Amino acid sequence: MVQQEHIEKEKVADTDHELLNLLKQRYSPRIFSDQELREEEMQTLFEAARWSASSNNWQPWRFIYAHKGSDTYDKIAECLGEFNQSWATNAPVLMLSAYKKTNPEGKENFHALHDLGMCLGTMAIQAEHMGIALHHMAGLDWKKAHNIFKVPEEYHITTGIAVGYYGGTLSDLPEKLQEAEVAKRKRKPQEEFAFKNEWRTI
Ligand SMILES: Cc1cc2nc3c(=O)[nH]c(=O)nc-3n(C[C@H](O)[C@H](O)[C@H](O)COP(=O)(O)O)c2cc1C
Repeated sequence: MVQQEHIEKEKVADTDHELLNLLKQRYSPRIFSDQELREEEMQTLFEAARWSASSNNWQPWRFIYAHKGSDTYDKIAECLGEFNQSWATNAPVLMLSAYKKTNPEGKENFHALHDLGMCLGTMAIQAEHMGIALHHMAGLDWKKAHNIFKVPEEYHITTGIAVGYYGGTLSDLPEKLQEAEVAKRKRKPQEEFAFKNEWRTI
């Protein structure tokens, strides 16, 4: 079995340029400490989301969250795909993120998904500062989530998010996920996405 103490060292991003520690250290764990998240900490995370930028200041983000041991937590877990269910219930809190598809005039808000992503980026950095990790999950049955939580048509449930303090033990994971948990993080080089002066298709 892979040793736990390797995790933090391996997970700090090997960046090409010096970055804030909060950015280098953030990663998406599949194990979490047993430490509970208090309501005040959840409110701090949502406060970070609240002060994010958004198109026309429409703030289209929405969240449903629940603590482990509650019926709602189990309902959120039930909406996750099988793979995500195999690890996400290690987290003390599960959330669903959603965005409002329409603007106050009822027309499409084309930038709503952008704004949800941006607010989650803001929340992730606040969380990192508090020693808390967010692990986003596209692998969920969003239609099931809409039905269970009676979410109106003008909203779209986008991701599940496992939230908890960094920590936990590798043996909390199925064997085949343990290797990935300690693997070095990788990224594309900047040349593949940041184009000076002209578009490049790669
Ligand atoms: C929108 C989104 C959806 C994701 N969906 C899943 C998922 O369903 N299951 C999972 O295990 N990880 C998921 N991830 C986590 C990514 O795999 C992870 O962020 C990526 O591999 C980079 O790793 P890092 O966050 O540790 O740097 C998702 C991340 C994002 C932002």
